[in-house]
Amino acid sequence: MISTSVIGLLAAMAASVSAAGSNKPELIAYVVDWELPTNIQWSKLDHVIYSFAEPDQSGKLGNFNTTQLEQVVQQAHANNVGVSLSVGGWTGSRYISDILSKSSSSFANTILDAVKQYSLDGINIDWEYPNSQDGMTCNTRSAQDLDNYLALLKSLRHGLGSKLITLATGTTPFNDQSGDPAKDLSDFASVSEIFLKLIFTYDINGNWDPTTGPNSPLKAASKGESTSVASALSAWKSAGIPSKQLSVGAAFYGWTARTIATTAQSQYVRFTKTQIKGDQYDTMSADPCPGAIKSYSGEMQWRSIDSQGIDAGRNGWTVKYDDTTQTPWAFSAKKKQIVTYDNAQSLEAKAQYAKQEGSGAFIWSLEMDDPKHTLLNALQSVRT
Ligand SMILES: *[C@@H]1O[C@H](CO)[C@@H](O)[C@H](O)[C@H]1NC(C)=O
Repeated sequence: MISTSVIGLLAAMAASVSAAGSNKPELIAYVVDWELPTNIQWSKLDHVIYSFAEPDQSGKLGNFNTTQLEQVVQQAHANNVGVSLSVGGWTGSRYISDILSKSSSSFANTILDAVKQYSLDGINIDWEYPNSQDGMTCNTRSAQDLDNYLALLKSLRHGLGSKLITLATGTTPFNDQSGDPAKDLSDFASVSEIFLKLIFTYDINGNWDPTTGPNSPLKAASKGESTSVASALSAWKSAGIPSKQLSVGAAFYGWTARTIATTAQSQYVRFTKTQIKGDQYDTMSADPCPGAIKSYSGEMQWRSIDSQGIDAGRNGWTVKYDDTTQTPWAFSAKKKQIVTYDNAQSLEAKAQYAKQEGSGAFIWSLEMDDPKHTLLNALQSVRT
């Protein structure tokens, strides 16, 4: 149960967020219900997003631990930090298109009920992705997705007053009816305070591209990827979203692969067809879609990269850093294995870039940091 004094404090906080406008959260962290961090550094965060509430076919929110959410809200509020609930996620986006086609206002009411029930300070919608083939193969999809999304947000804004609405996005603007990125999303900017730019995750499994590469490049290298933090910010700004409403994703993880080459002078090296297991948290899994095949993802969380001495260049690992993409990579000749990732240096560069652009930053996800909170500390300059 949340005491009345805490509720009072919150109302004041929400009001100040909206009144000042500039008082928006600069650093947001996703926390995940399957592993809530035990030692959250509340003073180093402005807001947390608890993930994920997954809507079923009927639009009911489920698959999240409500007891734990209540505990997070209580702790956060005691530390003057706001909490949003994230609706959707990779697997939780399956039915969103159909739910909104039926009635965006009744789905809005479901979400508003949750905000009330759990004393939340905002809502995060993580729809991956409207009218797009980039999500799970079995996702529902419609040419009306973008219109229905805007209708949902308008209902939410109406019901939420000044509370926070954040949206997780890809690196390009939401697709319109044609299935291509919309040219003008300024209507979205007027109903949601802040857009979250999802991290550009290099798909190391993609057999359409024969080499590895940086997970989250700050600027595109002359060779290799064309998408970067800089290109994504620019694309969203061109679609009418002011930079102060944008937030740069900070990846607390990287990817690993077994390489064909025995050296890695760059991050772009060919890798073997079978994806190797990443760290101890990487398990064989498949999307809940017909015909989906189980595999490892190759994800390596920062806490593992740190504890295995990879970033420190111990145990046979050599670390290099690229000044254009502002990202490190590590290579083990003995294992013929590459890890492309973010460390304190690369995240500090992203935080400074975001700050300079007038944008914020967000973390996916907090439990992947090391016990000394190295990466969280590296991002603090975005709040100064
Ligand atoms: C939900 O969270 C509570 C409190 O952290 C925990 O005791 C409980 O085991 C969790 N339930 C499930 C199903 O994970």
